Amino acid sequence: EKETIGLKVVLLGEVQVGKTSVVLRFTSDSFNSEQESTMGAAFSTKSIELGDKIVRFDIWDTAGQERYHSLAPMYYRDAVAAIVCYDITNVQTFEKAKEWIRELQINGTQIICLSGNKCDLPNRQIPTKDAETYAEDMGCHFFETSALNNSGITEMFMSIAHHIPTI
Ligand code: GTP
Repeated sequence: EKETIGLKVVLLGEVQVGKTSVVLRFTSDSFNSEQESTMGAAFSTKSIELGDKIVRFDIWDTAGQERYHSLAPMYYRDAVAAIVCYDITNVQTFEKAKEWIRELQINGTQIICLSGNKCDLPNRQIPTKDAETYAEDMGCHFFETSALNNSGITEMFMSIAHHIPTI
């Protein structure tokens, strides 16, 4: 009987950057090109075997709409990790990601991942190097991801697990 470790992970970021899509790709290996906007927040879980342990990700996908911003602390307060998403084709979403990272650092969130999503799209506005340098300066992990192509997402969740001292 393997020991199960639950890890609470929260996703934050501007509307439409693909938070729900990143979660759906990870939890059910699916993608919906007409994914509806999240209201409030949505919970899902996914368990993976890692050596002699089972890691269960307890995932809170929050709504990007500004009217839900004040609810966010309820979800990130006791989360061990946060994934902050932006859309690599939209500078404004990168600025919003920076705001979330500042807020999470004030909160003392242990592990913060910056996810440059939609990296399958050709019309990039944020050079990889810029985001990488920013993440490094802030002590965050950085991944470019695509929920459409399934790139970077498993790696990102696994890196969270690997940074938990008890795993
Ligand atoms: P809110 O719930 O409104 O905050 O949005 P969200 O951040 O959860 O975004 P959502 O997952 O709903 O995706 C928004 C749109 O972007 C949908 O049409 C998705 O199909 C699309 N999308 C999400 N991820 C990707 C991706 O990696 N590549 C591409 N090309 N489109 C994506």
